[in-house]
Amino acid sequence: MESTPAPSAPAATAGNLYADLSAYYDGFCNEVNYAEQGDFVARAFACLAETSGRDYLDLACGTGQLLGLMHNKGFVVTGLDNSRQMLDASALRCPSAALMLCDLATFDVDARFDLVSCFLYSIHYSHPVSALTETLRRTFRALKPGGVFIFDMVDKGGIGERDVITRLEQGDARFTFCSGWRYDGSSESMELQVAIRREDDAGVQDWKDHHPMTAISIEQVRTLMREAGFSITILERDFARLKEWDGKSHNVIMAGMKPHAGAE
Ligand SMILES: C[S@@+](CC[C@H](N)C(=O)[O-])C[C@H]1O[C@@H](n2cnc3c(N)ncnc32)[C@H](O)[C@@H]1O
Repeated sequence: MESTPAPSAPAATAGNLYADLSAYYDGFCNEVNYAEQGDFVARAFACLAETSGRDYLDLACGTGQLLGLMHNKGFVVTGLDNSRQMLDASALRCPSAALMLCDLATFDVDARFDLVSCFLYSIHYSHPVSALTETLRRTFRALKPGGVFIFDMVDKGGIGERDVITRLEQGDARFTFCSGWRYDGSSESMELQVAIRREDDAGVQDWKDHHPMTAISIEQVRTLMREAGFSITILERDFARLKEWDGKSHNVIMAGMKPHAGAE
């Protein structure tokens, strides 16, 4: 089979990966229920936050799906991503959003947000663990006292070799999107493998990439969050309800609250 990169040459870094993917990204995520996620984030904020503000930052915001939904819920929204192309898509989807072209581990904001989120396992793009540690510290700093950081993650003990496959027709073309993690079971890195196939009457194009993400345990992240200053609640990764983690599932939602000064 001939392998023709589409839409451009394979990328070496996450930033480039998403530059190449940006035109296809919403198709790739066709089966993600963002509306449910948005409702979940708003509900978690209402339950956990102790602030009166509505300033919201989505880390690794991608094409701005959550930005649009949270804007419609009355939040003042900001998106951060290290891909210019993904931010361009966010700007189209949510023109009122403030956008920051920046790495997760280097943004520098002081006590500006009531709510920060990072979804679709994007926290694992803070690679290696030292970068993730920095992301947690910087997010803590970016929150107002009483604010909440909420994100999903997978424990490194639960990384299976399951691929997610999405099929979609767009115009005359049929797309097959495939992504999956590969993990050797011991290191601090797992690999995300992504493949797109585009088929139309003219033929087949295949596009593939892989890149490293942080492999870490829930307990390690809990410790890093505690060290950054957060008080922590761990929830099941179930966007339909707010349910405390049962201590067994490998996919969770971490909620970190920034205490008010002087609070226990
Ligand atoms: C899987 S997508 C998730 C996008 C969005 N959160 C969603 O749920 O659709 C990951 C996003 O993270 C961004 N990204 C990857 N590595 C990053 C980094 N080190 N710093 C900032 N953004 C990053 C990519 O450009 C991409 O938009």
